Amino acid sequence: MSTITILSIETSCDETSIAISESSNNTIKILSNIVSSQVKLHAAWGGVVPNLAAREHVKNIPKILDDALSASNKKLSDVDIISVVNGPGLIPALLVGLNFAKTLAYKLNKPLLGIHHIEGHIYSNFVGGISNDEFLISKQTSIQNSKSYQIEFPILCLVVSGGHTQLVLMKDHFEYEIVGQTLDDAVGEAFDKVARILDIGYPGGPAVAEHAKKFQMASDEKFKIKFPRPMIYSDNFDFSFSGLKTAVLYETKKNIDLIKNESYISSICREFQNAAVDVLTTKTIKAAKMFHPKTIMLAGGVSANTELRIKLGEEVNKNLPPIVYCIPPMDLTGDNAAMIAIATHFRYNRMTTQEKELAKDSWSSLQADANLKLN
Ligand code: KG4
Ligand code: ZN
Repeated sequence: MSTITILSIETSCDETSIAISESSNNTIKILSNIVSSQVKLHAAWGGVVPNLAAREHVKNIPKILDDALSASNKKLSDVDIISVVNGPGLIPALLVGLNFAKTLAYKLNKPLLGIHHIEGHIYSNFVGGISNDEFLISKQTSIQNSKSYQIEFPILCLVVSGGHTQLVLMKDHFEYEIVGQTLDDAVGEAFDKVARILDIGYPGGPAVAEHAKKFQMASDEKFKIKFPRPMIYSDNFDFSFSGLKTAVLYETKKNIDLIKNESYISSICREFQNAAVDVLTTKTIKAAKMFHPKTIMLAGGVSANTELRIKLGEEVNKNLPPIVYCIPPMDLTGDNAAMIAIATHFRYNRMTTQEKELAKDSWSSLQADANLKLN
């Protein structure tokens, strides 16, 4: 099969991103992946404001298209297919990317594919995923397909982001079974809320991780902070993080005079992060013992957390028979359009000629869905 050029768009939350890639039968090459973050804009509000996000996407997206095309040395007329995240996410934000993609697909008369945001996160592992043996942060963006990374089905993927915490079992490509999920807050949301309680910045995940790193055993242990590991021994694969967040709130209410003390803050951050990572890794190993996957994967924004990346790898090595452990390259952990391109590559290669032809009419029917289901 000849090479096709894919244009992929992601606007589900507060990152505007467009990627240009080249796909052939079993290879995808990411030519450009432009990500424009609105973090600074939303920081003032302590969270993403949907209409503000949409306004920024509208403002930025034409320029990001230009940048993505010029960085890849392609013209709009070179594009063969278009893909866009159509959910889940914030509706005003999703609609900007979707309408932009529809207009392009209609004008160029090309197939349009809707891609699930979490599917994109999962598929980020299929390019530049890192095996446990290597354990390094890959900078590669142009890599062979799954074979070279020995990704084998069934896969058990721990999805951890600002909106999701799920254990997803995949018996084959695009076959998803959610075997466990959070009953309340997503783990990324808990990181963000703890950062807000401690007033250490936004987004909360990197801020909490940064303060946790400053913890020094000798001097900071004095606070003896201990948080619960909610549902760690529950008889299922579900999670709960709202109690953990509340435990942080109660701890700080008890010690208002210490709230600006750096040593106290880093003790809280470290214990909170340890509690979250303990629960996530314990539940993943428990599910692996039940479902016997051949690959364990990590996906979503919280997969940037170094403690989680390392601890899960260690627990996999310690508790399971030899198995592939895959984590996304650091530059594809957050929201980006390259991950959407990778999912598109695998989807498009599995479509029949008729389905590809029908996708040329998708510009008129594809809908955004804030709660789009993975399966
Ligand atoms: O996937 P993502 O970029 O957006 C959503 O789809 O939600 O995930 C964002 C989440 C935020 O909650 C952010 O605080 C968290 O990922 N995050 C982290 C780290 N980097 C980002 N959480 C913990 N440690 C990190 N290093
Ligand atoms: Zn995401």
